[in-house]
Amino acid sequence: MHIALGADHAGYQLQEKVKLWLNEWGHECNDYGTDSTKPVDYPDIAASVVSGMRERAILICGTGIGMAMAANRLGARAALCWNESTAVTSRSHNDANVLCLGSRELTEDKAKSIVYAWLGTEFSNDERHISRIKKLAKA
Ligand code: RB5
Repeated sequence: MHIALGADHAGYQLQEKVKLWLNEWGHECNDYGTDSTKPVDYPDIAASVVSGMRERAILICGTGIGMAMAANRLGARAALCWNESTAVTSRSHNDANVLCLGSRELTEDKAKSIVYAWLGTEFSNDERHISRIKKLAKA
């Protein structure tokens, strides 16, 4: 799967780990930065990632909140996930195409299991979820 990946300064270190995991699991990854812990603005990174997204994307900041706000304003279905359960449901119910992570709120192991669960879960294709997602697109 192709993953567009990005983080601000607070998410940079976790982003580097995520890149290794994606590689290990055989995904294709495009890194939109940032490339250090020097402060940058998360809306700028989110804009680059959403415009470069082919299949799915992962965005990381300190809380994951700013990245989720930015990506959703750009028309993505971005989900801030904090455990495996929210990761799975964001895919099966919401067909989330962007996963947002809060680097300051997660251990590395927890982040790894969230990313793994999110990438491994398909949308349910259930009619009730399709109809709700269509309403999101109109909002
Ligand atoms: C940076 O300090 C922090 O505000 C940012 O990474 C993010 O958490 C914003 O939502």
